[in-house]
Amino acid sequence: MCGIVGYVGHRPALDVVVEALRRMEYRGYDSAGVAVLDGRGGLAVERKAGRLANLEAELDDAGRDHFAGSTGIGHTRWATHGRPTDRNAHPHRDATGKIAVVHNGIIENFAPLRHELEAEHVDLRSDTDSEVAVHLVARAYADGPTAGDFVGSALAVLRRLEGAFTLVFTHADHPGTIVAARRSTPLVVGVGEGEMFVGSDVAAFIEHTREAVELGQDQVVVITADGYTVTNFDGNDDVPTRPFTIDWDLEAAEKGGHDYFMLKEIEEQPQAVADTLLGHFANGRIVLDEQRLSDQELRDVDKVFVVACGTAYHSGLVAKYAIEHWTRLPVEVELASEFRYRDPVLDRSTLVVAISQSGETADTLEAVRHAKDQKARVLAVCNTNGAQIPREADAVLYTRAGPEIGVASTKCFLAQVTANYLVGLALAQARGTKYPDEVAREYLELEAMPQLVARVLETVEPVRALARELAASPAVLFLGRHVGYPVALEGALKLKELAYMHAEGFAAGELKHGPIALIEDGLPVIVVMPSPKGRAVLHSKMLSNIREIQARGARTVVIAEEGDEAVRPFANHLIEIPASPTLLQPLLATVPLQVFAAEVAQTRGYDVDKPRNLAKSVTVE
Ligand code: F6R
Repeated sequence: MCGIVGYVGHRPALDVVVEALRRMEYRGYDSAGVAVLDGRGGLAVERKAGRLANLEAELDDAGRDHFAGSTGIGHTRWATHGRPTDRNAHPHRDATGKIAVVHNGIIENFAPLRHELEAEHVDLRSDTDSEVAVHLVARAYADGPTAGDFVGSALAVLRRLEGAFTLVFTHADHPGTIVAARRSTPLVVGVGEGEMFVGSDVAAFIEHTREAVELGQDQVVVITADGYTVTNFDGNDDVPTRPFTIDWDLEAAEKGGHDYFMLKEIEEQPQAVADTLLGHFANGRIVLDEQRLSDQELRDVDKVFVVACGTAYHSGLVAKYAIEHWTRLPVEVELASEFRYRDPVLDRSTLVVAISQSGETADTLEAVRHAKDQKARVLAVCNTNGAQIPREADAVLYTRAGPEIGVASTKCFLAQVTANYLVGLALAQARGTKYPDEVAREYLELEAMPQLVARVLETVEPVRALARELAASPAVLFLGRHVGYPVALEGALKLKELAYMHAEGFAAGELKHGPIALIEDGLPVIVVMPSPKGRAVLHSKMLSNIREIQARGARTVVIAEEGDEAVRPFANHLIEIPASPTLLQPLLATVPLQVFAAEVAQTRGYDVDKPRNLAKSVTVE
């Protein structure tokens, strides 16, 4: 949702903080703000609605000399409480102007706390839930048992807060100290030499240090230039933390020569698939990253639910075909936002596979919690090390796609599909529905996929040309069957979110039951063809479907396997992809659709990294 950063060290904090915000802008871009000690005993604050560029212009106008200190905090916002305006932008200050806070998440009990403050005539200057935190700390600091104690005051307030929050406080009377806390939203500590960082993710400090510490639930970190201490909200330092070395390089978090991160991320897909497979097949067996479930527990599973949102959900739809085929277990794929509200039948023999790039998506997290409450086992597929969903799961498989900065998910989709296959194979292996040599063979086929994805990428130039030609179309339809159906849904989602174009994906067999009425002269329809060898029956049915829509004037764009001669007469435009095992075809067929959507969006003049109204991590339900 929001991106937050804190810095204490020897450099000008303003530069470090603004740079961190630039790297985290994908987390939200409704407003941005900084608070930096001014070196004269005060706190200089600037905040501005809109993108970071607006804040930078404001800083240039105000004069950056005010921001001389080497302690500072910053925030880039995705609005939840209060409209995206200057006055609601973070940081928020107390009445003395000496204490400032930035916040990510939601303080659920902010209303009674606000009333309490108002009753004491505290002047609240924003509509946010966040502002109460800074006034409460100011009050605790001014009077009572924690008077004059910055850390103690923050702890006292944290204990009163409910909800999900990461909070970072700075205090002008305590230069060189930052207090940060987390509950159910992310916070990572960056350990430098003579400097320390806190951030929503490692992008905040990746260019300064690779040494990081993951904080646990309800933990508080106090950083100074020389080090850090971690406690719980009671101030007890006997708490577990996890130091780790960041293996993403700076390059991986930048655009790599492309105009947009997303285009770079599309190019990175062969690597994302390969890295996701890495190390997961050892001694003839599939291994997960974190396995707190025994093989016996996996054998006891009698049904599988997959829960996820958006693109991750589409990866789950693909997984259903593979998991059912390999394990003979019934698999239901659910939108996480619907799952817990319909009272699904769950027990300790149910395995819930939660798929999430961010590992923070509130809908998916709540689905996981509901599943756990009902005693189901949870296996997370996640791209973000140590995020909340994998922390709460019984087993984890990380997609190793690296940071995905483009808001629309691309490389993480391919990595999720890959990881989901590994989950299917792990289940089949534990349950004995596949012999070890069959598991090994499936794995080898997966291992061959990165090269095939790279081949698709080498041949997508005609897709870009076609996208430019079709960019003015009022709508585009997508058709698929079997695993091609979720690919069609994903192609349509990409076009909607990037190009703001009306796009719908359909199961091709369903067309005759209604959607065919949408077909009119010149309407582009993108068709994902099943393999003529792997799925001959579906292939011939799909040919009939294309014939039907062509007869009604549709302009057909067909994605088909190389050598699929039968489809040529029905394709106004043919996009060829290498032949692959049927279940793995989504790893190839999705790529031209991503490229198509990105090119249509660029032709229409849109920022493909930051589609309107969207945020990378959606941490509210
Ligand atoms: C679409 C997209 C979203 C996410 C969805 C789930 O391109 O990125 O639909 O897939 O919001 O996000 P995660 O995977 O972080 O749970």
